[in-house]
Amino acid sequence: MKVIAPSILSADFSRLGNEIKAVETAGADWIHADVMDGHFVPNITIGPLVVEAVKRVTDLPIDVHLMIENPDNFIPAFAKAGASWISVQIETCVHLNRTVQLIKENGAKAGVVLNPSTTVDTVEWILEYVDYVLIMSVNPGFGGQSFIHASLDKLRACRKIIDDSGLDIRLEIDGGVKVDNIGEIAAAGADTFVAGSAIFGAADYQATIDAMRAEIAKAVG
Ligand code: DX5
Ligand code: ZN
Repeated sequence: MKVIAPSILSADFSRLGNEIKAVETAGADWIHADVMDGHFVPNITIGPLVVEAVKRVTDLPIDVHLMIENPDNFIPAFAKAGASWISVQIETCVHLNRTVQLIKENGAKAGVVLNPSTTVDTVEWILEYVDYVLIMSVNPGFGGQSFIHASLDKLRACRKIIDDSGLDIRLEIDGGVKVDNIGEIAAAGADTFVAGSAIFGAADYQATIDAMRAEIAKAVG
């Protein structure tokens, strides 16, 4: 199954509940929540309080992307708030196995995220413990940035590592995903697509998500 996960970072926060309902009606599979701490990335966004509010208006799985230092301190709170998928930036974790274990102990699926400059081999020894790998195709911190083209090679390399492992692991892409590049991103091996500005910046959410699905189907069937 191909998953489209709108990132609420580009939603209108003054009407967040309506925005969530709108993308749900438009066919979103997950809701992606970008958590930033002003240390690991140069921006501050949302905390467990907002995730808990999102949870109250939707039954869609909430995918929490932690771009924060010391993620262990906050994983239980995000799980309690309703996150069903939680990912951590590999660059922030000194004891990654412990962190992944903590996510699972709190009842969520565990993911690891790689910045654009982090090499794919860093996932090798954690692979058997995770449910998803997220490749950043922009430097994290802000929505609306351009897709870094080299991410396609990285996706292909990561797809091969996952396929060779025989494990059931999703491969997610995040940053600069649009209708006009989602086909080649799918062809490179992604099965889970985060899109913020491309969806929330569009006049018609449903038409945009439909067009994304059509492009994915054209590329990979
Ligand atoms: C970037 C975030 C992304 C971002 C994607 O730091 O992790 O999820 O919101 O936004 P777009 O799709 O606008 O690049
Ligand atoms: Zn994200």
